[in-house]
Amino acid sequence: MLKISKDVFESAGLTDQLERYCHLLELEFRDLEQHELYQLVFSRLLKPDPFRTLADAVACGDRPTMLGADERDALLPALKNLFVRRDAPVTIMDLGAGDGQTVALALDHVPDGSRFYLEEPNVSYAGHYEKLIESVGRDLVVAEVSHETIDEYCHRLNRDETAHPAPGTVDVLLAIHMVYFVSDLAATVNFMLDRLRPGGQAFIVFADARRGFTGKCFANFAKTADAQRYRAHQAAQQELAHLFALNGDGARGAATEKLRQRLGRSDVEVVVNTDPTRLFGNDLGDLLALGFLTGLGGLAGDSIRDKIASVKDLISRDPAAVELALETSGPREGMWSVLEPQYVIVITRLSQ
Ligand SMILES: C[S@@+](CC[C@H](N)C(=O)[O-])C[C@H]1O[C@@H](n2cnc3c(N)ncnc32)[C@H](O)[C@@H]1O
Repeated sequence: MLKISKDVFESAGLTDQLERYCHLLELEFRDLEQHELYQLVFSRLLKPDPFRTLADAVACGDRPTMLGADERDALLPALKNLFVRRDAPVTIMDLGAGDGQTVALALDHVPDGSRFYLEEPNVSYAGHYEKLIESVGRDLVVAEVSHETIDEYCHRLNRDETAHPAPGTVDVLLAIHMVYFVSDLAATVNFMLDRLRPGGQAFIVFADARRGFTGKCFANFAKTADAQRYRAHQAAQQELAHLFALNGDGARGAATEKLRQRLGRSDVEVVVNTDPTRLFGNDLGDLLALGFLTGLGGLAGDSIRDKIASVKDLISRDPAAVELALETSGPREGMWSVLEPQYVIVITRLSQ
């Protein structure tokens, strides 16, 4: 990996290049609904690896599952591990479920007869997820799909005692890269844990907003715009760090103690891990778009032009601060990248 300093950035004329990509991205993102814009951003992450696509024809060895990020490959062992000791059918609840491509990678570990409950506001993603489960040709069932936002979904299920999945019935709950859209984090995590049966596990994955590119994009934008409007999102980021003791001393058991205190419950145990993951783009324009993946993408009502300009400003002002680099080897050789560490959190609900 070749890290790019400010001097190299400027002498290579990259500021001008970035400026040109800003204009292209403005055209691409113009007049879109929020979820359409998010889909275009996310498609950069999902970019398929042509070597994998041609796997039957080409001996390609180990290839990444997606080119735009190494997050999915990094979380996969922990995701598979959720199913390892489960041989009877399980109930899976997938929040902010996406199009199913992540869960697809662990499906061979999911026992026959298992049932999925999906929450995903993007209708087209949810449709892909359902088709994917059907196409596996096994006894796996999508029991219910909700197109509500996570806030609406939690609210409804908390009020309606007849809604499924009922409290205490979920074996595996997935919340992968979606907590950015939650407005009350502690309440939502408590909702997740209430749905778990004893022995059930919640798998919560999110980007480190303090060290990662997208968190810095949001902070940079919030600083230059009307800061008051962005307090809720910033408070949610702080709460995330607080809830999972991300600033803690790393002592064994410390995260569990802190989570118990903060949620006011003693029936949970938590393991927190972090991966030094990165985001990758074919060009600097892709990185500009990827700046919208978390906080910035969740903000409705601001000028797209201002947001794009703010991401450009962050990269060009201090490329080293976002660890801008060119990949010099491996399957992503020639791609641009930035640092986006992720947290992988497994909470187990204990029998009491
Ligand atoms: C980064 S993707 C992750 C998708 C999936 N969990 C995965 O790992 O492949 C974030 C997902 O959150 C969904 N999303 C956006 N806003 C949401 C909201 N308010 N409530 C729930 N999900 C939301 C998006 O449509 C998208 O599918």
